[in-house]
Amino acid sequence: MTQQHDTPRRGPRAAPGSPISQEPDATLPSAQGDDGSADVSLRPETLSEYVGQGQVCRNLDISIRAAKARSETLDHLLLIGPPGLGKTSLAYIVARSMAGRLHPTSGPVIEKAGDLAAILTSLERGDVLFIDEIHRLGKAVEEILYPAMEDFRIDLVIGEGPSARSISLSLARFTLVGATTRAGMLSAPLRSRFGNTFQLEFYSDDELAEIVRRSARRLGVIIDETAAMRVAQRSRGTPRVANRLLRRLRDYAEVKAAGRITGDVATDGLELLGVDRAGFDSMDRRFLAVLLEKFEGGPVGIETLAAALGEDAASLEEVYEPYLIRCGFLQKTPRGRVATARAYEHLGLRPGREQRTLFD
Ligand SMILES: Nc1ncnc2c1ncn2[C@@H]1O[C@H](COP(=O)(O)OP(=O)(O)O)[C@@H](O)[C@H]1O
Ligand SMILES: [Mg+2]
Repeated sequence: MTQQHDTPRRGPRAAPGSPISQEPDATLPSAQGDDGSADVSLRPETLSEYVGQGQVCRNLDISIRAAKARSETLDHLLLIGPPGLGKTSLAYIVARSMAGRLHPTSGPVIEKAGDLAAILTSLERGDVLFIDEIHRLGKAVEEILYPAMEDFRIDLVIGEGPSARSISLSLARFTLVGATTRAGMLSAPLRSRFGNTFQLEFYSDDELAEIVRRSARRLGVIIDETAAMRVAQRSRGTPRVANRLLRRLRDYAEVKAAGRITGDVATDGLELLGVDRAGFDSMDRRFLAVLLEKFEGGPVGIETLAAALGEDAASLEEVYEPYLIRCGFLQKTPRGRVATARAYEHLGLRPGREQRTLFD
């Protein structure tokens, strides 16, 4: 792999005037700023630089090669997974591999059917339209997408009342890459129009350690094996978090340890950042503490929990719960959220009434 210390690049140029930044979900509580930072971008630019997600990468690689060999455009692609697992990065990689321009936008940004029609008619053959948070597209906008995806055509109604007429415009063959944290909220007709659907999984510690080592090289910071593994273990299975922690540790090491991140430096730095041994930050711990202490471990509805935490239910579901569930601290049941014995252990508490009968 060639390193590009001096020329940080971001793959295909964003279309001029594209309505959003490249990090649309960077505002989510635990998704803040790694690549948002001013210096080197840590985004992988090719499939071979993209660590992990083996199954997804192998399938995508075959689809890309086959499409290129036939001089065709790539089938529409849906990427599903929690924030920070590499959906946006994959969209950029796809555009780059297919030598198309990437037009990034997102569901909430496209308010009117006309907005989407304007974007679609500006696309050239082989371009990639990336719609982040595609589950948040409005119904009227979504309906424009159906014929666009299927027949590369849009139907527009011009004028109002009795003089209104409908015209059909044909579009260049483009590839739609949709990303969503909430596959369940996608309508069936939309979902069925994607040729490929990939679910991204949380990363293993080894994969995250590799990402940390690569990022450290790009950032020009020295990190040893123990430290890379320690960062990996506390990154909630998420590359964005790993990179964010690494950037903070770089600051810490520069001030406190002559720029070298050793195991001890990592431990002290992570402690200072308030990241505990399970990789939980203060919000994760608050989530568990409220569930255990206010609601005796549940079951409690997500809306009630959200109100008690002063957060919105959607971000709890998208950002915090997937990892807590994956670690076995939380269960979703038909009656609501329930904490497991591990959650009590982690916070050093005794199981509540229901759990005692369950686990004793
Ligand atoms: N497979 C990967 N290999 C290396 N780095 C990755 C990978 N996936 C994500 N990253 C890093 O994590 C950051 C967040 O990824 P991103 O694609 O923005 O996630 P998402 O769009 O799913 O929220 C990227 O900027 C990149 O630095
Ligand atoms: Mg993204």
